[in-house]
Amino acid sequence: MAKEKIILTGDRPTGKLHLGHYVGSLRRRVELQNSGEFDKIFIMIADAQALTDNADNPEKIRQNVMNVALDYLSCGLDPEKTNIFIQSAVPELTELAFYYMNLVSVQRLQRNPTVKTELEMRKFEGGTPTGFFCYPVSQAADITLFKATTVPVGEDQKPMLELTNEIVRRFNNTYGEVLVEPSILLPDNAACLRLPGTDGKAKMSKSLGNCIYLSDTPKELKKKVNSMFTDPLHLNIEDPGHLKGTYTDAEGNEVAYQNTVFTYLDAFSCDEDFAKFLPEYKNLDEMKAHYQRGGLGDGTCKKFLLNILNDRLEPIRQRRAELEKNIPAVYEVLKKGTEEARRVGQQTLAEVRHAMRIDYFEDPTFIQEQVEKFKN
Ligand code: TRP
Repeated sequence: MAKEKIILTGDRPTGKLHLGHYVGSLRRRVELQNSGEFDKIFIMIADAQALTDNADNPEKIRQNVMNVALDYLSCGLDPEKTNIFIQSAVPELTELAFYYMNLVSVQRLQRNPTVKTELEMRKFEGGTPTGFFCYPVSQAADITLFKATTVPVGEDQKPMLELTNEIVRRFNNTYGEVLVEPSILLPDNAACLRLPGTDGKAKMSKSLGNCIYLSDTPKELKKKVNSMFTDPLHLNIEDPGHLKGTYTDAEGNEVAYQNTVFTYLDAFSCDEDFAKFLPEYKNLDEMKAHYQRGGLGDGTCKKFLLNILNDRLEPIRQRRAELEKNIPAVYEVLKKGTEEARRVGQQTLAEVRHAMRIDYFEDPTFIQEQVEKFKN
């Protein structure tokens, strides 16, 4: 039998999902789901991972589980094709992570660049929580419990996938071939790899307050698009505009910037949008050329972007409005998805326990062997 193609991915429920999540992962997941190429798809709401750096704020995580579920379903994830489940409700994940900790050194974990960056940002008072430090190991468990072959994620998750593959090789070499090495599936468009915030800062992130949420109203969206960061030197329409560059800030530092409106157009626009909303140009290259020559104002660019975003978000808003009328049905989706995740997880864990020689009660020869051993 050919190897099954299995997807696993997920998100920490620390807030509502935003456009960065959408271009970086959600849009792709829906395409993958609808491609029919995958035998099983698991999408995990990573509440246990979220608690590794929110231990003192469990209510925040609890509330956002439903927000994320609504975001998933309104974007077009279909429970008939995709199992959406809650991480903490699959205890097999925790067990597997505990075994994996023996296969990874502390020094190896200290080298994880994503964790390093997060530690700098988080500035934990009183030291790094052990659970947070180890979350990449638990992520390896998330992926391998389902024998996932494909993990669609953003670039920042690369170190986790590398670690997962090391753990798989180490496990299989030590205990026998049980686990499957996954491949990462990155967004195919550079602008989607790391969508900047509306202020042009490196990444869209809730703590920076520069997000456009999937659940924003048309009014909120308009306000945010109009305030987006563009070329700070493009003061008159006739002036040549820049897609990126550097400027000198008040303290005299050279600061590199990108023209966020065009980065978003890279991420969202397609040729049909021009025919529909801005027929002066055939495609984004023509529009960019005019902007750089001079004569194209930021207002026109923002209006075009707003039209495109509304076009993409409107069906999502409509589905969300329907879902919000029947929250118990959303809850049922999570419950069913979690049951299926446990069913598959228990199978893998039985194989793991057998390979690791800890399947005492499942091994009918165990007592007999011990009897023989203690005979004198
Ligand atoms: N670390 C991911 C994030 O912050 C969430 C996540 C947890 C995940 N476990 C995973 C992603 C396994 C992919 C595979 O968004």
